[in-house]
Amino acid sequence: MVLTDVIFIFLWKTLFILRYICLSCLIVGKLVNLKPFGLEDFEFLYKWNNDEEYVGKFEPFEEVSREELRDWLISVKIGLEWFIIETKQGEKVGQLVARRKNDGVINIGYRVIPDVRNQGFCTAAVNTFVEHAFKNLKMVKVTAETNPKNFASRRVLTKVGFKEVGYKEKSVEINGIWLEGILYELTFEEWKKNTDN
Ligand SMILES: CC(C)(COP(=O)(O)OP(=O)(O)OC[C@H]1O[C@@H](n2cnc3c(N)ncnc32)[C@H](O)[C@@H]1OP(=O)(O)O)[C@@H](O)C(=O)NCCC(=O)NCCS
Repeated sequence: MVLTDVIFIFLWKTLFILRYICLSCLIVGKLVNLKPFGLEDFEFLYKWNNDEEYVGKFEPFEEVSREELRDWLISVKIGLEWFIIETKQGEKVGQLVARRKNDGVINIGYRVIPDVRNQGFCTAAVNTFVEHAFKNLKMVKVTAETNPKNFASRRVLTKVGFKEVGYKEKSVEINGIWLEGILYELTFEEWKKNTDN
């Protein structure tokens, strides 16, 4: 066993322990729960993030090795930012990533496995996360960015109450070609107004 494996196992165990200490990290929603990723999710993430359809045609697809995935998972912040989208029966159906940009602003991205798309899982996950971001994390704004032709993603954001606020000519580079992006945001005030009504 090489030193990097020892460090990896140590970090995973630490993550595992922290996860169980911090059960409140599970974000409970009506249709889905958002579970901070743990060791038990490794195979799910490995399988699906190597699936071109899961990644979708609006994000660069590159096969990820187990080692790369390990490094990727270790390098993220514990519990707060990476979530597995789970049904109420505990079935893993996707992932939601949230990155804090600067004070009070958090940006989200998401993927749902192809077989269960168009059943409301992503909308439910984003709704659940948004509520958590405003109520518990005290964020002032949640943002997202998507390709103009990614109609499913745009529909998700619209259903949750996000508004289009901008356009980016060069958003994502895929095989040397730059794709444009539409910027969306949902402020705390807008969200509160929508939920109060
Ligand atoms: C985007 C994505 C996460 C949506 O997940 P999902 O669980 O299917 O989303 P939901 O079921 O909550 O909502 C999808 C909505 O888009 C609509 N939709 C799907 N395809 C559509 C299309 N081609 N044109 C218009 N609307 C479409 C669905 O009808 C549904 O709206 P409705 O509830 O009003 O009928 C999923 O398609 C995905 O993983 N895509 C690949 C990765 C990706 O693009 N991620 C986003 C990057 S920004």
